[in-house]
Amino acid sequence: MSETILELKHISKRFPGVIANNDISLEIQRGEIFAFLGENGAGKSTLASIIFGMYSPDAGEIILRGQAVQINSPARAVELDIGMVHQHFKLVSNYSVTENIILGREPIKRLLGIIPAIDYKKARAQVQELIDRYDFDLSADDLIEDLNVSSQQRVEILKMLYRDAEILIFDEPTAMLTPQEIDSLLAIIRRLREAGKTIILITHKLEEIKLVADRCAIMSRGHLIDVYDVQTTSTQLMANRMVGRQLSFQLDKAPAHFGPAVLELKELSVIDAFKVKRLDKASFTVHAGEVFALAGVAGNGQIQLADALAGLVQHSGQIILNGQDISQASVRKRIQSGLAYIPEDRHGVGLFLDFDVTENLISKQYYRPPFAHWAFLQKKTSQRYAELLIVRYDVRCAQGPATIVRSMSGGNQQKLIIARELDTHADLVIFVQPTRGLDIGATLSIRQRIIDERNSGKAVLLISLELEEVLTVADNIAVIFNGNLTKVTPAAEISLAELGEYMMGVRQ
Ligand SMILES: Nc1ncnc2c1ncn2[C@@H]1O[C@H](COP(=O)(O)OP(=O)(O)O)[C@@H](O)[C@H]1O
Ligand SMILES: [Mg+2]
Repeated sequence: MSETILELKHISKRFPGVIANNDISLEIQRGEIFAFLGENGAGKSTLASIIFGMYSPDAGEIILRGQAVQINSPARAVELDIGMVHQHFKLVSNYSVTENIILGREPIKRLLGIIPAIDYKKARAQVQELIDRYDFDLSADDLIEDLNVSSQQRVEILKMLYRDAEILIFDEPTAMLTPQEIDSLLAIIRRLREAGKTIILITHKLEEIKLVADRCAIMSRGHLIDVYDVQTTSTQLMANRMVGRQLSFQLDKAPAHFGPAVLELKELSVIDAFKVKRLDKASFTVHAGEVFALAGVAGNGQIQLADALAGLVQHSGQIILNGQDISQASVRKRIQSGLAYIPEDRHGVGLFLDFDVTENLISKQYYRPPFAHWAFLQKKTSQRYAELLIVRYDVRCAQGPATIVRSMSGGNQQKLIIARELDTHADLVIFVQPTRGLDIGATLSIRQRIIDERNSGKAVLLISLELEEVLTVADNIAVIFNGNLTKVTPAAEISLAELGEYMMGVRQ
């Protein structure tokens, strides 16, 4: 017999200019894994935040265990036995696992029967008991700063369990994990269900939903499309419902025809501001017509490598582009020699958020004709150019070239950067995490765009944490671990599991 633990009735939430949740009603059963699936901006995090008391809904009701409740703060949510693991963890790095878990909820003992003090020993034992019960592969005494992302995530989970949470909300929990870590997280989520917990799992990854979820609410543009039984619904159907159209999962990849070397790296090393070696003598070659992928867990030196290529950080060793040594060239000179760079940090380096689409599209070419005539910016020409690129790169923007970039979705902001960078007709295109955080529709179209560049004879360097992306898009793959590159392997000759092992340094 199933029993409804949480019911949302006609929940609506508006932000300036957007209805993030539009009249959403659904019921979650005790002990199930219930997924929220939807493209970026569909309203999943908003709905979860309402359940966790971070936002109050403009309209609607929450019924928890049969009672109407007002959840007006996360503290209230915790009192009601609701917990949430956010995308960005909230841990104190120089504290131990136990100290982090009991923070704000320390068990108190009385010294000499009167003086209150934290009963650390008792807390530690309770924490260790939870670790053992759920088989978390941690120690209560570990320092947070010594733990990797996946272990830190377990600490966040423990925090919820220590507070006796019954409803556990996970917002995109696998975004930062390797395949092996994802498997073990999904196993933990299953164990939590076995222990009687109710799980709300937010993700845009269909495979994960297929693997663990019982039911799945598909959301699109603030609306609830429907709730599906996961076992009896095909992945293809869920994907189509999510994006509201027929999707093609098949990438259109012509057989490889490698041309001459476009990029040659020779013993490239980067030492950071703290004198730490982040990249150690990286050497490889990318040819015309080749996608060369660099896989790896975040923080292993890939960003330093990309930044060194773009001319943003100091480095030693040689960078040769089209036979020309550009190691000491300025950023602008590198662009002029044929390098295009689509950075990871879309907001910091990639876009001027408070400027419009046209201004962003010409931001690297504004100083030269046809956009500038003498010192005057050519408005009409720039606008027509923007209109053209909007169509060519399928950028969705409500007010066309005049749309302020901040108001656009992540996927469309990314398409804008790609349009700008690719239209410079570079010979080498560097993509760093090109689909991070994007929904499946935007992801597939960007992956196809990368392959199109390669099909047309460009050299492509793809730096990505998404192994599935690396395996489907790349021709050749190297893994970066701790600043060192593994040997280059053809994508067709390596499996997901092997890649994962290289990424964790288990294999070398
Ligand atoms: N704090 C906020 N202020 C303004 N707009 C927001 C805020 N949070 C979310 N939104 C907007 O609400 C919509 C839904 O966002 P969100 O719930 O984060 O979607 P998802 O988690 O499905 O990607 C988006 O258009 C987003 O830009
Ligand atoms: Mg979200």
